[in-house]
This record gives sequence, C-alpha cells and structure tokens, in this order.
Amino acid sequence: MKTQVLIIGGGPSGLLLSQLLYTRGIDSIVLERKTKDYVLGRIRAGVLERGLLDLMREAGVADRMEKEGFPHDGTLISYDDEIFRVDFSEHTGHAVMVYGQTEVTRDLYEAREKANGKIEYNVENVVIHDADSDAPYVTYDIGGEARRVDCDFIAGCDGFHGVSRQAIPLDVRKEYEKIYPFGWLGILSETPPVNHELIYANSSRGFALCSMRNENLSRYYIQCSLSDSPDDWTDEAFWEELKRRIPADQAEKLVTGPSIEKSIAPLRSFVTEPMRWGRLFLCGDAAHIVPPTGAKGLNTAASDVHYLYNGLRDFYENNSSEGIDTYSQKALARVWKAERFSWWFSSLMHRFPDQTDFDYKIQLAELEFLRENEAAQKAMAENYVGLPY
Ligand code: FAD
Ligand code: PHB
Repeated sequence: MKTQVLIIGGGPSGLLLSQLLYTRGIDSIVLERKTKDYVLGRIRAGVLERGLLDLMREAGVADRMEKEGFPHDGTLISYDDEIFRVDFSEHTGHAVMVYGQTEVTRDLYEAREKANGKIEYNVENVVIHDADSDAPYVTYDIGGEARRVDCDFIAGCDGFHGVSRQAIPLDVRKEYEKIYPFGWLGILSETPPVNHELIYANSSRGFALCSMRNENLSRYYIQCSLSDSPDDWTDEAFWEELKRRIPADQAEKLVTGPSIEKSIAPLRSFVTEPMRWGRLFLCGDAAHIVPPTGAKGLNTAASDVHYLYNGLRDFYENNSSEGIDTYSQKALARVWKAERFSWWFSSLMHRFPDQTDFDYKIQLAELEFLRENEAAQKAMAENYVGLPY
C-alpha cells in the first residue's frame, strides 16, 4: 500500500492529525495496536484548552462538543479549609471546556469512518524503515498477514509505550525525565459533581481533585502510594479519604455512589528531543508526558498536531518544507512551558514522602500568595487555559 502520511497510533493525536489532513485532501493511514472499543474505554483527560477546541472546529468535529461540553470560567483551589477561585475569563478572556477525551476520540472515529478514512486495528509488530531517507516505509502484521506501506512521512502518535520514539537512534535522541514518588487513584461515578467547577485540593493527607464529565458523571482523584493497587481501595475507603482531603463544607455535600471505573496513574514528567528524525515526526505522548495536575497532556498533544499539520500542509500546498523543518523546535518550545507548569502545579499540590515541615510551610505560603495576588493568578490562568500556539 501507499499513502502520503502514515500515522502510527489511533489515540487522539493520530486521529486528529488524520482528520485535519483529510480536510486538505492529504491522504493518511492510521495503524492502531488495539481495538476501537479498547481505546474508547480508557478514561483519561477531561479538560480541553481553547487551542484544541479550535483544532476540533477546523477538523469539522466540534458539533457535539459545542452542544454537550461545559465551558468553565475558573477553578477552585483549596488547602486545609481555605478555598479560593482563579478566574480564567477575567484574567485571560478565555475559558476551558470540560469534555472527555473519550468523547473527543469517539467524535474523531465517527468522522474518520464517515469519510472512509483508513484505520487498521489490532496491528502487531509495527516497524519503521528508512525514516532518514526520502522513501520511508512501515511494515506490520494484521490477522497473521504481513503488510508494507510506503509513504512520504511517518507521524509517530503511538503514546509513551509506542515504537516510534525508539526508532530514533540513541546518539540522536536525548531524554529528560522526572518520576514522582506517588500516583493518582481515580474513580468515575454516576453521581452529580460536588461542585460546578473543578476543585484542586492540597491537604495534609495528600492531593485530591474533584472533576466531572457531565451533570451526573463525576471524576475524582486522590494521591496514592505507587505500591497501591485499585483493588486495595474499596469505594467506601475512597470516598472517606476524599472527604478528608477537601474542605469540610464540600465534603458535606459530596454525593457518593458505586464507582464504574477505578484506576491508578503514575505521575511522570518526560521529554524526548528532537521530535523529528528525517521523515519521522513524534506527536503527543510519544514525545512527552506531564503529570496530570495541570490538565496539559492531551492539550500539548494537540499543539504538536497543530504544528505538524500546518507543516505538512505547507509542504503539500506550497511546496515549502519550512514548517516541517522547524516542527521539532516550535513544538518543543511550547512543550517545555507545559512541562514547567505541570511540574510547578504538581509540586505545589502534593505531599512528597521526603517533604519536611519547612517544605510544607513553603507550599502553604505559595498557596496563600496565589490566593492574594492577582498577578500570580493571572500567570496561572494563562498557563491553565493554554499558552498561544
Ligand atoms: P495515546 O492516547 O496514548 O494514544 C496512543 C495510541 O497509540 C494508543 O491508542 C495505543 O494503543 C497506540 N499504540 C501504541 N503503540 C503502538 C504501536 N506499536 N502500533 C500501533 N499503535 C500503537 N491530558 C489533558 O490534556 N487534560 C487532562 O485533564 C488529562 N487528564 C489525564 C488523566 C489521566 C488519569 C491520564 C492517564 C492522562 C491524562 N491526560 C490529560 C493525558 C492524556 O490522556 C494524554 O496526553 C493523551 O492521551 C495523549 O494522546 P496521544 O494520542 O498522544 O497518546
Ligand atoms: C479529569 O477530569 O480527568 C482531569 C481534570 C483535570 C486534571 C486532570 C484530570 O488536571
């Protein structure tokens, strides 16, 4: 087979890139290791930046999001029994949208299917060949049959555990990593959210987050030990711990119920450089990971897609390779700022095992400063709604 852009990975990055290219008549094939149901079953991001909303509009997949998504003009931050609000709209003129990654992915699959876009599921043994030449190709197995696709470019959108990053030789690739000594235990429950906006809570017992998907679907997280497994936590134990970590008046009105999903995510900051090698371009979690505290993972994947899509458009429509030649540099400049924000917000909100009383007092002082200081709130709001592309 032959295509213009071979996309490895059918998560949000790969699907969004494929759909955007389609709107410009640029052909692509998506290779996905899992089934569509498996990808849609993963409960992940919930907060979308305006840049991603604009990309969805450009890709023609924003209708349901505009109808069913919930614009949020601010967020609440608590420490002990103090609670304050950072107003995004007042400080930046922009809001964020609460609309689950599952829904974004569902809308993208639907659009790709409607356009007869080619997505191969259940592929195995994906291997990238000759990425540093003018004639790259990819081989893989599907249903026991070996296949080969020749292409102009390869987009590595295959997440943190994919093969694309590994295809960049070690003497070219440099990786930066920080592992946090805790995880997030998350549950989804068919209960009304405790508050109409998110609550990020720093408590002496550890971090907690109250989030949501819609009026009757809540998403809650608590910081947990890396040695915990979801089975260690009954629903009752989760609710009790959550209540202890959020302000008393919020805990009182928390509606609890059975969890319909429960999982633990480790926290990691990771960046690989460069994000391009020859005709291979890395996008999204394949190139970088952030701890989820700032809601930046999916949104940073989207900014990569923006730069790559525009670079490829320029190549095919204007015969210019400037966009793809500067892709890695432009994407990384924004990636590192998202990394910084996510690291800062994570450091501010969690209990660290080796944290001293001094460190805790410094966290409290910084939270108090953020509560009192308009300039600090503006800086936070600008990062949270998303830095411009
Ligand atoms: P992925 O979603 O990982 O998709 C990669 C795809 O490639 C997968 O479908 C995988 O099966 C496939 N694949 C892998 N290897 C191969 C291979 N060899 N061949 C073919 N296919 C392959 N981000 C936010 O912006 N806001 C949030 O609020 C937020 N909350 C989060 C909460 C949690 C609990 C977690 C875990 C993450 C959260 N994120 C959030 C991060 C966000 O989910 C990711 O950044 C996002 O999924 C990245 O999309 P992606 O398409 O780059 O990678
Ligand atoms: C979520 O709703 O899953 C969510 C929201 C905000 C975050 C992380 C996760 O910072």
